[in-house]
Amino acid sequence: MKILVVGGGGREHAIIRALKKSPLCSEIWCAPGNGGISYDATCQAIPATDVKAMVEFAQQQAFDYVVVAQDDPLALGMVDELAKVGIPAFGPDAAAARIEASKVFSKNLMKKYGIPTADYETFDDPTAAMAYIKGRGKYPVVIKADGLALGKGVLICQDEAEAEAGIREIMLDKKFGASGNRVVVEEFLTGPEVSVLSFCDGKTVKPMVSSMDHKRALDHDQGLNTGGMGTVAPNPCYTPAIAERCMQEIFLPTVAAMQAEGCPFKGCLYFGLMLTPDGPKVIEYNCRFGDPETQVVLPLLESDLLTVMLATTNGTLAETEVKFRDGAAACVVLASGGYPLAYEKGKEITGLVNGQLEGADEVTVYHAGTAIKDGKLVTNGGRVLGVTATADDLPAALKKAYAATERISFDKLHKRTDIGARALAAMQHPKED
Ligand code: AMP
Ligand code: GLY
Repeated sequence: MKILVVGGGGREHAIIRALKKSPLCSEIWCAPGNGGISYDATCQAIPATDVKAMVEFAQQQAFDYVVVAQDDPLALGMVDELAKVGIPAFGPDAAAARIEASKVFSKNLMKKYGIPTADYETFDDPTAAMAYIKGRGKYPVVIKADGLALGKGVLICQDEAEAEAGIREIMLDKKFGASGNRVVVEEFLTGPEVSVLSFCDGKTVKPMVSSMDHKRALDHDQGLNTGGMGTVAPNPCYTPAIAERCMQEIFLPTVAAMQAEGCPFKGCLYFGLMLTPDGPKVIEYNCRFGDPETQVVLPLLESDLLTVMLATTNGTLAETEVKFRDGAAACVVLASGGYPLAYEKGKEITGLVNGQLEGADEVTVYHAGTAIKDGKLVTNGGRVLGVTATADDLPAALKKAYAATERISFDKLHKRTDIGARALAAMQHPKED
């Protein structure tokens, strides 16, 4: 099969590397891709959000299957448009992508179907939102822009003044554009966070191995929120008992709810969970693979990724095996100094040969933001590389991943030095559930 992957970050690189192992895959392309991805796939510089150009390109090149990995083209209906020209694609249609693209939609879905999540109210009027927050008088309070906001549309406000500033930023200053026309105001939850990616074919859901993201820029979860500075899998907080509870209380009801609403979900449904003292609750849904969760989940997948993806499209997931190997994976992100705020680009990256480390067993370097300029590999984004290692257990995977990062350098490289530390602590002090 001739495959096109839409997107251009570390997640897409991890998907491409896994697809290339498939005996069904004969040719692989990526649009727009990036410098490092071009070692593994033919890259075509079409913006991921240019639905029209992408569909025309897919027709012209006669792709057999398109994997739409990024959220915005999914929300814009790329899968719907590909279907219209007879090209099957991995990912939800626009109606099902609302589960991520509209927080008002997803919160109302959870309320209607009794899926555990933080208590909330939605508002399209800033005065009413503020009156509600004041009346409630409980802090911290969480304010979320309704639409897609590059993972930055969530504010945790410690007092009334911060909440007022937050409502102003989102609803009046329109810091996230039209995404802030409506907001969700919700209760602040506490507990360890778990990411569970799952394959769905509209009716069946098969969860992948669990993972843990590290969203803050600096060690000890300090600094600003980022797209993710590192991940580990599996997540030690996610015990088999909790997994079973999530299946019964969250995963199955969500898939059934989407079906009942007339928008069955096909593709990868990402459950962002918080294990609160009152049980597991949904913090957010994403309609796609997580980044950098994918970089630790797919290296542990034993089953053929392309076969499983095709099963989500064809509705045959129930009969298709989704198996993960034992062991663990860790990914450490190498970012440009300054990220997630301003940072410089074009710094030469040293230590890699054809984008990978030589002689590093069970280590893969996923390219998130790199370019090739005058024959040299250079930085071209906030998150530059994700260095993933797999091993028999988490301590070994972390050690290997961190050792590998020491062999790579570029000017102003920033990485967290404590990826996996919380997971290791959780393994030493397991909590009874
Ligand atoms: P989101 O973009 O929805 O994943 O939110 C970003 C981060 O904000 C999450 O990973 C959580 O750490 C935090 N967060 C979101 N909602 C809540 C909540 N209701 N209570 C506590 N923390 C939250
Ligand atoms: N790493 C979080 C996300 O992909 O949304």
